[in-house]
Amino acid sequence: MKIVLLEGVHQACVDRLIQAGYQPELRKNALSEEELLNIIGGVHILGVRSKTHVTKRVLDAAESLLAVGCFCIGTDQVDLEQAALRGVPVFNAPFSNTRSVAELAMAEMVMLARRASHKSQLLHRGVWEKSAEGCIEVRNKTVGLVGYGHIGPQVGLLAESFGMKVYYYDIVGKLPLGNATPVSSLEELLKVSDFVSLHVPDTAETRQLISARELSMMKKGAFLLNLSRGRVVDLDAVKAAVENGSLGGVAVDVFPEEPASNDDPFECPLMGLNNVILTPHIGGSTIEAQRNIGLEVATTLLKFIEVGSTTGSVNFPQVELPMVRDSHRILNIHRNVPGVLSSINTIIAQMGGNIRAQYLNTLGEVGYLIIDVDQQMSQAVRSKIDELSTSIKTRLLF
Ligand code: NAI
Repeated sequence: MKIVLLEGVHQACVDRLIQAGYQPELRKNALSEEELLNIIGGVHILGVRSKTHVTKRVLDAAESLLAVGCFCIGTDQVDLEQAALRGVPVFNAPFSNTRSVAELAMAEMVMLARRASHKSQLLHRGVWEKSAEGCIEVRNKTVGLVGYGHIGPQVGLLAESFGMKVYYYDIVGKLPLGNATPVSSLEELLKVSDFVSLHVPDTAETRQLISARELSMMKKGAFLLNLSRGRVVDLDAVKAAVENGSLGGVAVDVFPEEPASNDDPFECPLMGLNNVILTPHIGGSTIEAQRNIGLEVATTLLKFIEVGSTTGSVNFPQVELPMVRDSHRILNIHRNVPGVLSSINTIIAQMGGNIRAQYLNTLGEVGYLIIDVDQQMSQAVRSKIDELSTSIKTRLLF
């Protein structure tokens, strides 16, 4: 199994793979399309971060490729559809930085409540403003979490440790953690919250979720935090609310337009406003999160290599099945057309074989089938299944 890891993925991943008996080949830098084309032919598992682009051309040349691991959150750098059509699942690590985001949100609530970042900026300019005016504790205040998926509940737990009351609103019913209280509408949440913290994805429904109308429903002097996605908030409306004092302060980590690199300039309507904390999309950027990403992707890749699980893949049918003892496992990736399962089961029946366990799932044009069969006939069954015109890739595990 040839595993190639690019862009200096975290050592925790390398250690995990070595522990499992593999010898990953490591490269520090990203590869251009041409460079990737030169090496991809014999690669079974490819690990990238955000800078290496796995294009259709690369996938066409990737004859042996079984899976791609993206050691990051985003997967735009891989042509996901083309990968799926070639039977290549792509994995990432979307939740490895959950706690990092929650910690920054919690810290920013305290900083906003104490106007500490504003006072720090003044002090850097030689202005000593020692005053308690407008400065409050977060204890006994209410935080309203918009979105209660992975990050929202973590913020809630940290906030409770600070003595805050936690309310949340989510479009999906979610079990509260700690003493958090769900509310049934965004409006209700905005009205009761001293702090509103956004933790929703970027979807058609969440774009400009917080604009002038929503800001006008918030308590006078309340605080707004956005560490989710830039387009969720109308920054011009927020600017007006800060300037007229209806918002007491704002923390923003994500922006509708973000510089492509650290060398590009940054612009945003909130620059220069009092009690506004701006951070360059660093909510999830910690050493711990990098390590978690390394471990999480290594673990999902190993599960795919060793038992065929595709849970967590971003472009592939999700299949997870405990391996039946004393059997061999056939993994068949096929075109999602009617009759595939019945053809495969007929092959096994005609060979007098016994299916010990089986699980099929489909996504778009691709179907993925796991079958555990008797050991003595697995090789022959695999060959027959592979010959089907619907088969994209067939692998045998024993
Ligand atoms: P998640 O997918 O686990 O949770 C999102 C929750 O929002 C779900 O429970 C969903 O039902 C809910 N939701 C969706 N639409 C909604 C709406 N209109 N109103 C209320 N709730 C709604 O996502 P996770 O991991 O908690 O991340 C939240 C956000 O944080 C995402 O936008 C993610 O991209 C962003 N993020 C930002 C980072 C940073 O560096 N600042 C790092 C990691 C994530």
